[in-house]
Amino acid sequence: MSHTIVIFGASGDLTGRKLVPALYELFRKKRLPENTRVVGISRTKYSHDQWRDKLAESTARYVGEDFDADAWRQFAPAIFYQPGDADKAEYYAGLQTALAEIEGEQETSRVYYLSVAPPLYETVINHIGAAGMADEDYGPRRIVIEKPFGSDLESAQALNRRLHQVFDEHQIYRIDHYLGKETVQNVLVLRFANSIFEPIWNRNYVDHVQITAAEDLTVGSRAAYYESAGVLRDMFQNHLLQLMTFTAMEAPARFDADAVRDEKVKVLRSVRAMKPEEVYTDTIRGQYRKYRDEPGVPEESETATFGAIKLYIDNWRWQGVPFLLRSGKAMSCRTTQIVIQFRPAPHMMFEGGPRAAFGANRLVIQVQPAEGIQLHFQTKVPEAGMKLRMTDLNFTFREKFSGRMPEAYQRLLLDVMQGDASLFSRADEVELAWSIIDPIQRGWQRPGWPPLELYEAGGWGPPGATEWMCRQNREWFDYCPVLK
Ligand code: BG6
Repeated sequence: MSHTIVIFGASGDLTGRKLVPALYELFRKKRLPENTRVVGISRTKYSHDQWRDKLAESTARYVGEDFDADAWRQFAPAIFYQPGDADKAEYYAGLQTALAEIEGEQETSRVYYLSVAPPLYETVINHIGAAGMADEDYGPRRIVIEKPFGSDLESAQALNRRLHQVFDEHQIYRIDHYLGKETVQNVLVLRFANSIFEPIWNRNYVDHVQITAAEDLTVGSRAAYYESAGVLRDMFQNHLLQLMTFTAMEAPARFDADAVRDEKVKVLRSVRAMKPEEVYTDTIRGQYRKYRDEPGVPEESETATFGAIKLYIDNWRWQGVPFLLRSGKAMSCRTTQIVIQFRPAPHMMFEGGPRAAFGANRLVIQVQPAEGIQLHFQTKVPEAGMKLRMTDLNFTFREKFSGRMPEAYQRLLLDVMQGDASLFSRADEVELAWSIIDPIQRGWQRPGWPPLELYEAGGWGPPGATEWMCRQNREWFDYCPVLK
């Protein structure tokens, strides 16, 4: 069977920065299925060759030192371009003819990749449906939807309804690139391929879980999008909740799409809905000081670029264990990490006596950029009586495996081509995620609920976020991993 990936909105940034470099890398590593073609669609008038040249340049830039010009020359003939207005029904007859020419008589699996602006999703989906292009008579037909999938529960439900009028759920792939990261998938391996962690992975041993996605980047030129999204929609509804479900879910019986997603959905269903007064006490929001100077940001903008929220999962495993999620732009460094903070030892017979405060064990899963896992524990300092010090066992992917970590899109594109939806969100999952975020978003629309705190770039967000943790007798694990 051959494969065609049809990218709608191909002149956008994602195609040159992520999609084509990922496909090229798969090709170079001989992992791309044979007979895979890429067809780009957008309004700009390019010939096939002009588009290939443009992509050669962006691919070389984003792949860096692994770019091999010979491999690109072999890959480039599989790239095509079909200019036009994908939001006009008339466009699709020409597209069908072009695809028929490219694909020939062979049975072909086709992936429609929607990388257009979200307001155009419904139009393009309708046109694909009206042109009969979702029918699976000549091979599988799949559609990939980029984030944001809606902007609240209602719009996500509307988009799901529209999709289901044209595609069956098994054809729909809602992408969250965090699930394509090796270290995120490794959370499942750590938990479910080892027997020593599961017995302590629960309320009896865990004090709380921290999930941080910090970025040193600012919003820069993305204000048009970011102003309507803010940190909750941009990072929490998708990436952070995904990290939380992987950390909290029960073991699925099999590693297949429905078994995995059923377990994730159970976690989301168990998340306690936040009451309006809890939005005030259990969330923190901030904005980096220079945000309002970014191009396109209104002077009075109240958009949060930092958020911290406390969620509870009401089930047997996690009852009473807070999940503390935070994310921010213009922070100290780029780091995504999951910290399992264990309870302290129940009785301390060393320094300071039984009630002395000793650092408790911590398991730190470094999702990026220093991919690895550290276990923190107390150790005796040699020749210092019974003095203790926190030390760690340190595993890094870099030391144990050769080569660079692949970009998330490589795995995800391959999975779509092979029809494996395990790492994509199901309709119910996306809707549940919105139902967790919506009450917070509604709260944040009220001025001062909680106050929007300004913070300096290059730190760990607003001071209020640190104080909020102190009031809970807890502490953020503010740590920038050092890349060796
Ligand atoms: C995107 C957000 O989904 O994820 C961006 O829109 C954010 O604002 C990005 O910068 C972070 O992704 P990563 O893979 O760099 O952690």
